[in-house]
Amino acid sequence: MNTGKAGRIVAAAIFMASLVSCNFSFGNKPGEYESDEPGETVGSSWDVLTPLHSRYTGQFLLGNIISPLDLNTVRFNLLKRHFNTVTAENAMKPDAIQYQRGQFTYPDTMVNAVLEAGMQMHGHTLVWHSQTPLWMNTGVSREQAITNMTNHITQVLTNFQGKVVSWDVVNEAMRNDASPSTDWRLSLRKNENPAQSENSRWNQIIGDEYIELAFKAARDADPAAKLYYNDYNLNMSNPNKAYAVYRMVKDINERCPAYGGRKLIDGIGMQSHHHLNTDPATVEESIQLFASLGVEIAISELDIQAVFYGSPYSSFTEDAAKAQAQKYAALFIIFKKYAANISRVTFWGIDDATSWRKESFPVLFDKQYKAKPAFYAVENPNKY
Ligand code: XIL
Repeated sequence: MNTGKAGRIVAAAIFMASLVSCNFSFGNKPGEYESDEPGETVGSSWDVLTPLHSRYTGQFLLGNIISPLDLNTVRFNLLKRHFNTVTAENAMKPDAIQYQRGQFTYPDTMVNAVLEAGMQMHGHTLVWHSQTPLWMNTGVSREQAITNMTNHITQVLTNFQGKVVSWDVVNEAMRNDASPSTDWRLSLRKNENPAQSENSRWNQIIGDEYIELAFKAARDADPAAKLYYNDYNLNMSNPNKAYAVYRMVKDINERCPAYGGRKLIDGIGMQSHHHLNTDPATVEESIQLFASLGVEIAISELDIQAVFYGSPYSSFTEDAAKAQAQKYAALFIIFKKYAANISRVTFWGIDDATSWRKESFPVLFDKQYKAKPAFYAVENPNKY
């Protein structure tokens, strides 16, 4: 009996020791990471780290999101140091700019500050089923809806002409349960069943032509701006959706050749809201597919959930942080490989505490703006 108990104690001790040694061999302890920059360790504060965007000079722009409330705060300084392009998280959405018909609220102060800081401004977004005031497309005629949509686009692009370099003209037009049909129109969101969540009043009232009309209005209003179609789940874990977007962009660009002197749709934004189970190979496959259209690709809203339903981690442990860093590294190795096709990689969140998915610890900085292992993975993906 006594021997058995002693055996169990020894076994427990060996098990504990193995846990400790696992931590030492695999964990990212402060000071353990070998950065090629002197003085950098895991957990460094944002302000001592080498600007992250400098790692990708000549490859693609590196971005993050901004809110007007970030001006004159540490967050703006962080953005300015580590990123060279920003996207408004909410301030340029239809309901933010034109909540009431004809009353435009432009975040001009924010955009001017961004440009003065030497960053580029990307516009997000003009035509979407969400965060859009009802007056635009509900209870109005088709003609009125077209006028409301195109007028919004014209006014907004004219206001920001010469300041905002690229726009997500149409956001999330495709259903997540896209059809395998070669007719991309069958995959569009529509209000056929108002009880469903994947609805778009725009398609319901105008028809699929709304997409082409939106891009034409944008090109007419600001011919210099790069025009993007933006959507989520575009990696090949959902091939129907990726192919629906591919076919739509191909079809519109073939039917509207050289509108304004070039392809009507300049680029595809892959939002890239990923999680630890995302297979990087499925991301690479989609990049190859979209690149074959001769359009630019933006990784437009990147984050990687670490703690989520189905994650091997129920809290954000050291191992979860390391797994997340490895996933970021695997993706950035792919982004570097296709740098010639990728214009921009933008993260959707500055720090874990303010991310739209904060419960899943998805971004590069913790709530004190200290670099997580994920930061170093992006800084030097080949080391992970
Ligand atoms: C999110 C913002 O991060 C939230 O603050 C807001 O409450 C909802 O929208 N796809 C998009 C983004 O295109 O606009 C969304 O942003 C995230 C998903």
